Amino acid sequence: MDTIRLRADPDGIARAADLLARGALVAFATETVYGLGADATNGTAVAGIFEAKGRPSFNPLIVHVGSVESARDIAEWSDTADRLAAAFWPGPLTLVVKLANASALSPLVTAGLPSVAIRMPDHGSAQALLHRFGRPVAAPSANPSGRISPTTADHVLAGLSGRIAAVLDDGPCPVGVESTIVALTDRPRLLRPGGLPAEAVEEALGRALAPPTDDITAPGQLASHYAPRATIRLGATTARPGEVHLGFGTVAGDLSLSPSGDLREAAANLFGHLHTLDALGRPIAVAPIPETGLGRAIADRLRRAAAPRP
Ligand code: TXA
Ligand code: MG
Repeated sequence: MDTIRLRADPDGIARAADLLARGALVAFATETVYGLGADATNGTAVAGIFEAKGRPSFNPLIVHVGSVESARDIAEWSDTADRLAAAFWPGPLTLVVKLANASALSPLVTAGLPSVAIRMPDHGSAQALLHRFGRPVAAPSANPSGRISPTTADHVLAGLSGRIAAVLDDGPCPVGVESTIVALTDRPRLLRPGGLPAEAVEEALGRALAPPTDDITAPGQLASHYAPRATIRLGATTARPGEVHLGFGTVAGDLSLSPSGDLREAAANLFGHLHTLDALGRPIAVAPIPETGLGRAIADRLRRAAAPRP
């Protein structure tokens, strides 16, 4: 299969929606990372995601919607979900809620769980695609399983070319790390730190979020989920011989996540820089990153990248 690169104009969006309707896989830009999209109501199409990614089949996928109304169609929508959606959608927040009884979703999307992860991306071409397509789109990050999430169409093609129908190219992703995932099936719980600071969610809820668990229902928590091929050493103020050094702030390194120490800039650069350094085939040393706000998400990604492979 030749993977087509589509431009994010009305014609490209129409062609992407048509491919999705025919059960094909289309990668598309969102504000966080590129997603590998399939029609969430078409089990064969969804199975294709796992095949293309080589992803373990127990990982449930995030469902992307163009409106809160679409979320209500597939979930048992609560007042808390309503409050968080009103505050943060569209945006980099995924809500895990109870699956509706009569949901049209393929069960493969939720890996058989009674809950579903939903988000509304804050991104022009993703929104246009969702509206044009008219059905929910299941989309994990558009990378082979266990590899770094893609923040450009070139990253997508480097990992998945020949395995997916198309990529809707809309340039680099502005946020650069995945969405924050909050489960509302019980007491509100942070499942994955991400592009929206957890503190903002806590402020909107008026209460603290319960911490992540290592439960199988959150396999994104698996330690090496974000592993590049190179080995990674964290908290490195200097590089050792043979290492390539990823800098931050006053630690310049060979390439810096943010010379001025700006965490937003660092998040936007994170996967791109890891891709660049991973391609050199040398061990990577990473400068210390403060763990506040977006820094928590960055540190979380880096710790996963540094964890030993299973
Ligand atoms: O920013 C993002 O969230 C990107 C873009 C493409 O939207 N998507 C993304 O999807 O990161 P993925 O598949 O790489 O991550 C999905 C995460 C996994 O950690 C998975 O375990 C969790 O969502 N998840 C999905 N459904 C769940 C559920 N029902 N209960 C608990 N966790 C769930
Ligand atoms: Mg992923």
